[in-house]
Amino acid sequence: MLKAKTDEHRDSIPLLKSEIFKITDLKYTVSEESCFTISSYYLKDTWRQNIKTKNWGHPMHSMASRSGSFPPALADYFITNFSKVGDLVLDPYSGKGTAPYQACLLDRVGFGVDVTPEAYVLTGAKVHAIKHEEALDYLKSIRFGISKINIKETPEEVKIFFSTKTLSQILTIREKLLEDLELSTDSIDYLNGNVSHHAKTKKEQFAQYWLGILVGILHGSSSYSLSLPCSHSFSMAPNYTKNYAKKHSLKKPDRNVIQCMIEKSRYLQSAGIARISGKAYLGKAQDLPKSWEEKFDLIVTSPPYFTAQSYAWDNWLREWLLGFNFKEVRKQTTQTASYEKYSIEMYKFLKETYRVLKPNKRAFIVVGDVTKKSKEGKTIINTSKIIAEEGKKAGFGVELIINDDIPPTKRYNSSFLTANQGLQIDRIVCLKK
Ligand SMILES: C[S@@+](CC[C@H](N)C(=O)[O-])C[C@H]1O[C@@H](n2cnc3c(N)ncnc32)[C@H](O)[C@@H]1O
Repeated sequence: MLKAKTDEHRDSIPLLKSEIFKITDLKYTVSEESCFTISSYYLKDTWRQNIKTKNWGHPMHSMASRSGSFPPALADYFITNFSKVGDLVLDPYSGKGTAPYQACLLDRVGFGVDVTPEAYVLTGAKVHAIKHEEALDYLKSIRFGISKINIKETPEEVKIFFSTKTLSQILTIREKLLEDLELSTDSIDYLNGNVSHHAKTKKEQFAQYWLGILVGILHGSSSYSLSLPCSHSFSMAPNYTKNYAKKHSLKKPDRNVIQCMIEKSRYLQSAGIARISGKAYLGKAQDLPKSWEEKFDLIVTSPPYFTAQSYAWDNWLREWLLGFNFKEVRKQTTQTASYEKYSIEMYKFLKETYRVLKPNKRAFIVVGDVTKKSKEGKTIINTSKIIAEEGKKAGFGVELIINDDIPPTKRYNSSFLTANQGLQIDRIVCLKK
Protein backbone atom coordinates (compact mmCIF):
# COMPACT_ATOMS: atom_id res chain seq x y z
CA MET A 1 0.00 0.00 0.00
CA LEU A 2 1.39 3.41 -0.95
CA LYS A 3 1.95 5.92 1.79
CA ALA A 4 0.07 9.17 1.42
CA LYS A 5 2.26 12.08 0.35
CA THR A 6 1.06 15.50 1.29
CA ASP A 7 1.88 19.06 0.42
CA GLU A 8 4.91 19.24 2.67
CA HIS A 9 6.68 17.61 -0.30
CA ARG A 10 7.75 20.69 -2.21
CA ASP A 11 9.70 21.27 -5.38
CA SER A 12 12.91 21.66 -3.39
CA ILE A 13 12.89 18.07 -2.07
CA PRO A 14 15.06 15.75 -4.16
CA LEU A 15 13.04 12.90 -5.55
CA LEU A 16 14.05 9.28 -5.86
CA LYS A 17 13.13 7.79 -9.22
CA SER A 18 11.57 4.77 -7.50
CA GLU A 19 9.08 7.09 -5.78
CA ILE A 20 7.40 8.26 -9.00
CA PHE A 21 4.07 6.62 -9.77
CA LYS A 22 2.07 6.36 -12.92
CA ILE A 23 -1.44 7.50 -12.05
CA THR A 24 -3.09 4.50 -13.66
CA ASP A 25 -0.94 2.15 -11.50
CA LEU A 26 -2.16 3.63 -8.22
CA LYS A 27 -4.42 1.33 -6.27
CA TYR A 28 -6.98 3.50 -4.59
CA THR A 29 -8.61 2.75 -1.29
CA VAL A 30 -11.83 4.57 -0.74
CA SER A 31 -12.90 4.82 2.88
CA GLU A 32 -15.61 6.76 4.65
CA GLU A 33 -13.20 8.79 6.80
CA SER A 34 -10.36 9.75 4.50
CA CYS A 35 -9.05 9.38 1.01
CA PHE A 36 -5.64 8.93 -0.47
CA THR A 37 -3.58 12.11 -1.01
CA ILE A 38 -0.51 12.48 -3.20
CA SER A 39 1.59 15.40 -4.37
CA SER A 40 1.62 15.84 -8.16
CA TYR A 41 5.39 15.88 -7.70
CA TYR A 42 5.27 12.10 -7.26
CA LEU A 43 3.26 11.39 -10.38
CA LYS A 44 4.90 10.32 -13.61
CA ASP A 45 4.58 12.22 -16.92
CA THR A 46 2.23 14.88 -15.60
CA TRP A 47 1.55 18.44 -16.72
CA ARG A 48 4.28 19.73 -14.36
CA GLN A 49 7.07 19.36 -16.89
CA ASN A 50 4.98 20.68 -19.76
CA ILE A 51 3.82 23.87 -18.06
CA LYS A 52 7.46 24.89 -17.74
CA THR A 53 7.61 24.90 -21.56
CA LYS A 54 6.22 28.27 -22.63
CA ASN A 55 3.04 27.94 -24.71
CA TRP A 56 2.91 24.14 -24.49
CA GLY A 57 0.02 22.86 -26.57
CA HIS A 58 -1.83 23.65 -29.77
CA PRO A 59 -1.83 27.33 -30.92
CA MET A 60 -5.66 27.29 -30.93
CA HIS A 61 -5.52 27.31 -27.10
CA SER A 62 -4.18 30.87 -27.32
CA MET A 63 -7.31 32.28 -28.95
CA ALA A 64 -7.72 34.36 -25.79
CA SER A 65 -5.86 34.73 -22.56
CA ARG A 66 -8.33 34.45 -19.67
CA SER A 67 -7.47 34.48 -15.97
CA GLY A 68 -8.53 31.38 -14.05
CA SER A 69 -7.75 28.94 -16.87
CA PHE A 70 -5.94 25.67 -16.28
CA PRO A 71 -3.08 24.68 -18.60
CA PRO A 72 -3.85 22.52 -21.67
CA ALA A 73 -1.21 20.07 -20.37
CA LEU A 74 -3.30 19.37 -17.26
CA ALA A 75 -6.40 18.58 -19.32
CA ASP A 76 -4.23 16.50 -21.67
CA TYR A 77 -2.96 14.38 -18.77
CA PHE A 78 -6.38 13.34 -17.44
CA ILE A 79 -7.98 12.94 -20.87
CA THR A 80 -5.09 10.75 -22.09
CA ASN A 81 -5.02 8.57 -18.98
CA PHE A 82 -8.75 8.21 -18.30
CA SER A 83 -10.51 8.11 -21.66
CA LYS A 84 -10.08 6.54 -25.06
CA VAL A 85 -10.50 7.63 -28.68
CA GLY A 86 -14.15 8.38 -29.49
CA ASP A 87 -15.17 8.94 -25.83
CA LEU A 88 -17.33 11.88 -24.76
CA VAL A 89 -15.55 14.30 -22.41
CA LEU A 90 -17.37 17.13 -20.59
CA ASP A 91 -16.23 20.31 -18.84
CA PRO A 92 -19.33 21.96 -17.28
CA TYR A 93 -17.29 25.08 -16.30
CA SER A 94 -15.47 25.23 -19.62
CA GLY A 95 -14.01 28.79 -19.46
CA LYS A 96 -12.06 29.44 -22.63
CA GLY A 97 -12.59 25.84 -23.72
CA THR A 98 -9.25 24.31 -22.71
CA ALA A 99 -10.50 20.82 -21.77
CA PRO A 100 -13.09 20.43 -24.57
CA TYR A 101 -10.59 21.52 -27.22
CA GLN A 102 -7.81 19.29 -25.84
CA ALA A 103 -10.31 16.40 -25.90
CA CYS A 104 -11.05 17.08 -29.61
CA LEU A 105 -7.30 17.20 -30.34
CA LEU A 106 -7.01 13.75 -28.71
CA ASP A 107 -9.82 12.43 -30.95
CA ARG A 108 -12.43 12.47 -28.18
CA VAL A 109 -15.63 14.52 -28.45
CA GLY A 110 -15.19 17.57 -26.22
CA PHE A 111 -18.30 19.17 -24.67
CA GLY A 112 -18.21 22.49 -22.83
CA VAL A 113 -20.81 24.38 -20.80
CA ASP A 114 -20.25 27.84 -19.31
CA VAL A 115 -22.60 30.44 -17.93
CA THR A 116 -20.71 33.52 -19.16
CA PRO A 117 -21.33 34.43 -22.82
CA GLU A 118 -17.67 35.21 -23.64
CA ALA A 119 -16.51 31.83 -22.26
CA TYR A 120 -19.28 30.08 -24.19
CA VAL A 121 -18.31 31.90 -27.41
CA LEU A 122 -14.61 31.03 -26.94
CA THR A 123 -15.37 27.36 -26.28
CA GLY A 124 -17.60 27.11 -29.36
CA ALA A 125 -15.09 28.99 -31.52
CA LYS A 126 -12.50 26.29 -30.74
CA VAL A 127 -14.45 23.05 -30.75
CA HIS A 128 -16.41 23.24 -34.01
CA ALA A 129 -13.41 22.28 -36.16
CA ILE A 130 -13.92 25.28 -38.46
CA LYS A 131 -11.18 25.47 -41.10
CA HIS A 132 -9.60 28.88 -41.74
CA GLU A 133 -10.36 28.85 -45.48
CA GLU A 134 -14.05 28.03 -44.94
CA ALA A 135 -14.30 30.68 -42.22
CA LEU A 136 -12.69 33.19 -44.57
CA ASP A 137 -15.22 32.45 -47.32
CA TYR A 138 -18.01 33.10 -44.80
CA LEU A 139 -16.39 36.38 -43.71
CA LYS A 140 -15.96 37.52 -47.33
CA SER A 141 -19.62 36.79 -48.03
CA ILE A 142 -20.84 39.19 -45.33
CA ARG A 143 -22.06 42.58 -46.40
CA PHE A 144 -20.98 44.85 -43.59
CA GLY A 145 -23.26 47.86 -43.84
CA ILE A 146 -23.06 50.92 -41.65
CA SER A 147 -23.79 49.92 -38.04
CA LYS A 148 -27.20 50.86 -36.69
CA ILE A 149 -25.44 51.64 -33.44
CA ASN A 150 -24.22 55.18 -33.32
CA ILE A 151 -20.70 55.44 -31.92
CA LYS A 152 -21.94 58.25 -29.67
CA GLU A 153 -24.22 55.75 -27.92
CA THR A 154 -21.29 53.56 -26.96
CA PRO A 155 -20.60 53.72 -23.21
CA GLU A 156 -17.79 56.13 -22.25
CA GLU A 157 -15.92 53.35 -20.40
CA VAL A 158 -15.67 51.41 -23.67
CA LYS A 159 -14.42 54.43 -25.64
CA ILE A 160 -11.42 54.67 -23.27
CA PHE A 161 -9.92 51.59 -24.94
CA PHE A 162 -10.36 52.21 -28.69
CA SER A 163 -9.71 54.80 -31.37
CA THR A 164 -12.88 56.04 -33.11
CA LYS A 165 -11.81 54.36 -36.34
CA THR A 166 -11.24 50.97 -34.69
CA LEU A 167 -14.39 51.20 -32.58
CA SER A 168 -16.66 51.92 -35.52
CA GLN A 169 -15.36 48.78 -37.28
CA ILE A 170 -15.83 46.70 -34.11
CA LEU A 171 -19.45 47.89 -33.83
CA THR A 172 -20.23 47.03 -37.44
CA ILE A 173 -18.59 43.61 -37.39
CA ARG A 174 -20.03 42.45 -34.08
CA GLU A 175 -23.55 43.51 -35.09
CA LYS A 176 -23.51 41.24 -38.12
CA LEU A 177 -21.82 38.31 -36.37
CA LEU A 178 -24.20 38.46 -33.39
CA GLU A 179 -27.13 38.52 -35.79
CA ASP A 180 -25.82 35.35 -37.50
CA LEU A 181 -25.10 33.61 -34.19
CA GLU A 182 -28.53 34.67 -32.90
CA LEU A 183 -27.05 35.46 -29.51
CA SER A 184 -28.92 38.15 -27.61
CA THR A 185 -29.51 39.29 -24.04
CA ASP A 186 -32.53 36.94 -23.92
CA SER A 187 -30.04 34.08 -24.13
CA ILE A 188 -29.11 34.44 -20.45
CA ASP A 189 -32.69 34.06 -19.33
CA TYR A 190 -31.73 30.54 -18.38
CA LEU A 191 -34.52 28.06 -18.62
CA ASN A 192 -34.85 25.41 -15.96
CA GLY A 193 -33.05 22.30 -17.05
CA ASN A 194 -32.17 23.70 -20.45
CA VAL A 195 -29.05 25.23 -21.89
CA SER A 196 -29.95 28.57 -23.35
CA HIS A 197 -27.73 28.73 -26.43
CA HIS A 198 -25.90 26.34 -28.70
CA ALA A 199 -24.68 26.98 -32.27
CA LYS A 200 -26.19 24.25 -34.46
CA THR A 201 -25.96 25.52 -38.03
CA LYS A 202 -22.76 26.11 -39.98
CA LYS A 203 -23.63 29.83 -40.24
CA GLU A 204 -23.95 30.10 -36.45
CA GLN A 205 -20.67 28.24 -36.00
CA PHE A 206 -18.78 30.48 -38.46
CA ALA A 207 -20.13 33.56 -36.68
CA GLN A 208 -19.10 32.06 -33.34
CA TYR A 209 -15.59 31.33 -34.65
CA TRP A 210 -15.01 34.95 -35.68
CA LEU A 211 -16.63 36.32 -32.53
CA GLY A 212 -14.26 34.13 -30.48
CA ILE A 213 -11.33 35.59 -32.36
CA LEU A 214 -12.68 39.11 -31.86
CA VAL A 215 -13.07 38.42 -28.11
CA GLY A 216 -9.45 37.24 -28.05
CA ILE A 217 -7.95 40.31 -29.74
CA LEU A 218 -10.29 42.89 -28.19
CA HIS A 219 -7.77 44.00 -25.57
CA GLY A 220 -4.10 43.35 -25.08
CA SER A 221 -0.78 44.58 -26.28
CA SER A 222 0.11 42.42 -29.28
CA SER A 223 0.38 43.61 -32.87
CA TYR A 224 -3.24 42.62 -33.53
CA SER A 225 -4.79 43.78 -30.26
CA LEU A 226 -7.49 46.34 -30.96
CA SER A 227 -7.20 48.40 -27.76
CA LEU A 228 -4.58 50.66 -26.25
CA PRO A 229 -1.86 48.50 -24.67
CA CYS A 230 -3.38 46.73 -21.65
CA SER A 231 -3.88 43.27 -20.15
CA HIS A 232 -4.76 40.36 -22.42
CA SER A 233 -6.10 38.20 -19.61
CA PHE A 234 -8.79 40.41 -18.12
CA SER A 235 -10.71 43.57 -18.94
CA MET A 236 -9.08 46.35 -16.94
CA ALA A 237 -11.05 48.84 -14.83
CA PRO A 238 -12.02 51.89 -16.97
CA ASN A 239 -10.94 54.64 -14.57
CA TYR A 240 -7.63 53.01 -13.81
CA THR A 241 -6.99 52.52 -17.54
CA LYS A 242 -7.95 56.13 -18.33
CA ASN A 243 -5.54 57.57 -15.74
CA TYR A 244 -2.76 55.14 -16.58
CA ALA A 245 -3.08 55.83 -20.31
CA LYS A 246 -2.91 59.59 -19.69
CA LYS A 247 0.10 59.33 -17.39
CA HIS A 248 2.02 57.10 -19.82
CA SER A 249 0.73 58.72 -23.04
CA LEU A 250 -0.62 55.41 -24.32
CA LYS A 251 -1.96 55.51 -27.89
CA LYS A 252 -5.22 53.95 -29.06
CA PRO A 253 -4.21 52.19 -32.27
CA ASP A 254 -6.09 52.55 -35.58
CA ARG A 255 -6.50 48.96 -36.73
CA ASN A 256 -7.91 47.21 -39.75
CA VAL A 257 -10.08 44.95 -37.59
CA ILE A 258 -10.90 42.34 -40.24
CA GLN A 259 -7.20 42.08 -41.13
CA CYS A 260 -6.27 41.56 -37.47
CA MET A 261 -8.94 38.83 -37.15
CA ILE A 262 -7.66 37.05 -40.25
CA GLU A 263 -4.03 37.20 -39.09
CA LYS A 264 -5.00 35.80 -35.69
CA SER A 265 -7.01 33.00 -37.31
CA ARG A 266 -4.02 32.06 -39.48
CA TYR A 267 -1.80 31.87 -36.42
CA LEU A 268 -4.33 29.78 -34.44
CA GLN A 269 -4.48 27.26 -37.28
CA SER A 270 -0.74 27.27 -38.02
CA ALA A 271 -0.52 23.70 -36.67
CA GLY A 272 -3.81 22.57 -38.27
CA ILE A 273 -7.00 21.98 -36.27
CA ALA A 274 -8.57 19.10 -34.35
CA ARG A 275 -10.08 16.39 -36.56
CA ILE A 276 -12.99 15.87 -34.21
CA SER A 277 -15.73 18.42 -33.69
CA GLY A 278 -17.08 19.07 -30.19
CA LYS A 279 -19.99 21.03 -28.73
CA ALA A 280 -20.41 24.18 -26.65
CA TYR A 281 -23.42 25.34 -24.63
CA LEU A 282 -24.36 28.49 -22.76
CA GLY A 283 -25.77 27.11 -19.53
CA LYS A 284 -25.28 26.26 -15.88
CA ALA A 285 -23.22 23.43 -14.43
CA GLN A 286 -25.95 22.90 -11.80
CA ASP A 287 -28.62 22.50 -14.46
CA LEU A 288 -27.40 20.36 -17.34
CA PRO A 289 -29.77 19.18 -20.11
CA LYS A 290 -32.22 16.53 -18.96
CA SER A 291 -31.35 14.39 -22.00
CA TRP A 292 -27.70 13.95 -20.86
CA GLU A 293 -28.41 10.87 -18.74
CA GLU A 294 -25.24 8.72 -18.35
CA LYS A 295 -23.81 10.26 -21.53
CA PHE A 296 -20.18 11.03 -20.65
CA ASP A 297 -17.05 8.90 -20.23
CA LEU A 298 -15.03 11.53 -18.40
CA ILE A 299 -15.43 14.92 -16.73
CA VAL A 300 -12.46 17.28 -16.29
CA THR A 301 -13.40 20.62 -14.80
CA SER A 302 -12.62 23.49 -12.47
CA PRO A 303 -15.48 25.36 -10.77
CA PRO A 304 -15.04 28.89 -9.37
CA TYR A 305 -13.38 28.94 -5.93
CA PHE A 306 -15.70 31.05 -3.73
CA THR A 307 -14.99 34.69 -4.71
CA ALA A 308 -11.35 34.13 -5.74
CA GLN A 309 -12.32 35.64 -9.08
CA SER A 310 -15.25 37.51 -10.56
CA TYR A 311 -15.52 36.09 -14.06
CA ALA A 312 -18.20 38.57 -15.16
CA TRP A 313 -16.31 41.69 -14.01
CA ASP A 314 -12.93 40.33 -15.18
CA ASN A 315 -14.40 40.07 -18.68
CA TRP A 316 -16.71 43.12 -18.65
CA LEU A 317 -15.42 44.53 -21.96
CA ARG A 318 -15.71 41.15 -23.69
CA GLU A 319 -19.29 40.78 -22.38
CA TRP A 320 -20.06 44.28 -23.73
CA LEU A 321 -18.74 43.20 -27.14
CA LEU A 322 -21.25 40.35 -27.15
CA GLY A 323 -24.10 42.67 -26.15
CA PHE A 324 -24.25 41.76 -22.43
CA ASN A 325 -23.98 43.76 -19.25
CA PHE A 326 -21.52 42.14 -16.86
CA LYS A 327 -23.82 42.86 -13.89
CA GLU A 328 -26.54 40.70 -15.45
CA VAL A 329 -24.01 37.97 -16.26
CA ARG A 330 -22.65 38.06 -12.70
CA LYS A 331 -26.07 37.21 -11.26
CA GLN A 332 -25.88 33.88 -13.10
CA THR A 333 -22.37 32.86 -12.00
CA THR A 334 -21.42 30.90 -8.91
CA GLN A 335 -19.65 33.51 -6.83
CA THR A 336 -20.17 33.57 -3.08
CA ALA A 337 -18.10 34.13 0.05
CA SER A 338 -20.53 32.05 2.13
CA TYR A 339 -19.30 28.55 3.00
CA GLU A 340 -22.88 27.26 3.20
CA LYS A 341 -24.04 28.74 -0.12
CA TYR A 342 -20.87 27.55 -1.87
CA SER A 343 -21.35 24.01 -0.51
CA ILE A 344 -24.95 23.96 -1.76
CA GLU A 345 -23.91 25.10 -5.26
CA MET A 346 -21.12 22.50 -5.37
CA TYR A 347 -23.56 19.78 -4.28
CA LYS A 348 -25.97 20.71 -7.11
CA PHE A 349 -23.15 20.66 -9.67
CA LEU A 350 -21.78 17.33 -8.37
CA LYS A 351 -25.25 15.77 -8.39
CA GLU A 352 -25.57 16.78 -12.05
CA THR A 353 -22.06 15.52 -12.77
CA TYR A 354 -22.99 12.16 -11.21
CA ARG A 355 -26.18 11.97 -13.29
CA VAL A 356 -24.53 12.67 -16.66
CA LEU A 357 -21.54 10.37 -16.10
CA LYS A 358 -21.60 6.71 -17.16
CA PRO A 359 -21.25 4.14 -14.31
CA ASN A 360 -17.65 3.38 -13.20
CA LYS A 361 -16.37 6.56 -14.87
CA ARG A 362 -14.43 9.42 -13.30
CA ALA A 363 -14.66 13.15 -12.69
CA PHE A 364 -11.53 15.22 -11.96
CA ILE A 365 -12.30 18.48 -10.19
CA VAL A 366 -9.55 21.11 -9.92
CA VAL A 367 -9.96 23.56 -7.03
CA GLY A 368 -7.68 25.95 -5.17
CA ASP A 369 -7.25 26.81 -1.52
CA VAL A 370 -8.78 30.17 -0.73
CA THR A 371 -7.82 32.72 1.92
CA LYS A 372 -10.78 34.16 3.78
CA LYS A 373 -10.39 37.36 5.77
CA SER A 374 -12.57 38.12 8.76
CA LYS A 375 -12.42 40.18 11.97
CA GLU A 376 -10.69 37.21 13.60
CA GLY A 377 -7.96 37.19 10.95
CA LYS A 378 -7.14 35.08 7.90
CA THR A 379 -8.22 31.48 7.45
CA ILE A 380 -7.27 29.17 4.60
CA ILE A 381 -10.16 27.16 3.21
CA ASN A 382 -9.25 23.85 1.62
CA THR A 383 -11.93 23.83 -1.10
CA SER A 384 -11.12 20.22 -2.05
CA LYS A 385 -12.63 19.08 1.27
CA ILE A 386 -15.95 20.67 0.27
CA ILE A 387 -15.81 18.96 -3.14
CA ALA A 388 -14.99 15.60 -1.50
CA GLU A 389 -17.81 15.96 1.07
CA GLU A 390 -20.44 17.13 -1.41
CA GLY A 391 -19.21 14.58 -3.95
CA LYS A 392 -19.85 11.76 -1.46
CA LYS A 393 -23.35 13.13 -0.76
CA ALA A 394 -24.00 13.16 -4.52
CA GLY A 395 -23.09 9.46 -4.69
CA PHE A 396 -19.42 9.47 -5.73
CA GLY A 397 -16.53 7.56 -4.21
CA VAL A 398 -13.58 9.86 -3.48
CA GLU A 399 -10.53 8.00 -4.77
CA LEU A 400 -7.69 10.44 -4.52
CA ILE A 401 -6.73 14.06 -3.94
CA ILE A 402 -3.70 15.32 -5.85
CA ASN A 403 -1.96 18.35 -4.33
CA ASP A 404 -0.42 20.53 -6.99
CA ASP A 405 1.86 22.92 -5.20
CA ILE A 406 3.26 25.14 -7.92
CA PRO A 407 5.07 28.32 -6.82
CA PRO A 408 2.59 31.21 -7.32
CA THR A 409 4.83 33.10 -9.75
CA LYS A 410 4.88 30.06 -12.06
CA ARG A 411 1.16 29.58 -11.82
CA TYR A 412 -0.86 29.33 -14.96
CA ASN A 413 -3.86 31.18 -13.57
CA SER A 414 -2.23 34.16 -11.96
CA SER A 415 0.36 35.63 -14.23
CA PHE A 416 -0.17 39.03 -12.61
CA LEU A 417 0.53 37.89 -9.08
CA THR A 418 3.76 38.11 -7.14
CA ALA A 419 5.12 35.26 -5.01
CA ASN A 420 3.28 36.54 -1.93
CA GLN A 421 -0.11 36.92 -3.54
CA GLY A 422 -2.67 34.53 -4.84
CA LEU A 423 -3.48 30.94 -4.12
CA GLN A 424 -0.69 28.71 -2.94
CA ILE A 425 -2.03 25.33 -3.94
CA ASP A 426 -4.45 23.63 -6.27
CA ARG A 427 -5.95 20.26 -5.44
CA ILE A 428 -7.46 17.82 -7.88
CA VAL A 429 -10.26 15.73 -6.45
CA CYS A 430 -10.68 12.39 -8.26
CA LEU A 431 -14.23 11.10 -8.01
CA LYS A 432 -15.54 7.78 -9.27
CA LYS A 433 -19.16 6.90 -10.01
C1 LIG B 1 -11.98 28.16 -12.94
S1 LIG B 1 -12.85 28.75 -14.33
C2 LIG B 1 -12.67 27.43 -15.48
C3 LIG B 1 -11.58 27.71 -16.45
C4 LIG B 1 -11.37 26.62 -17.50
N1 LIG B 1 -10.93 25.38 -16.90
C5 LIG B 1 -10.34 27.08 -18.55
O1 LIG B 1 -9.29 26.45 -18.69
O2 LIG B 1 -10.57 28.11 -19.17
C6 LIG B 1 -14.53 28.62 -13.82
C7 LIG B 1 -15.54 28.95 -14.90
O3 LIG B 1 -16.84 28.75 -14.38
C8 LIG B 1 -17.73 29.66 -15.05
N2 LIG B 1 -18.95 29.67 -14.23
C9 LIG B 1 -19.22 30.37 -13.09
N3 LIG B 1 -20.40 29.98 -12.57
C10 LIG B 1 -20.88 29.01 -13.41
C11 LIG B 1 -22.05 28.19 -13.39
N4 LIG B 1 -22.95 28.29 -12.42
N5 LIG B 1 -22.22 27.28 -14.38
C12 LIG B 1 -21.30 27.17 -15.40
N6 LIG B 1 -20.19 27.94 -15.45
C13 LIG B 1 -19.98 28.83 -14.47
C14 LIG B 1 -16.93 30.93 -15.16
O4 LIG B 1 -17.38 31.73 -16.22
C15 LIG B 1 -15.52 30.37 -15.44
O5 LIG B 1 -15.29 30.30 -16.82
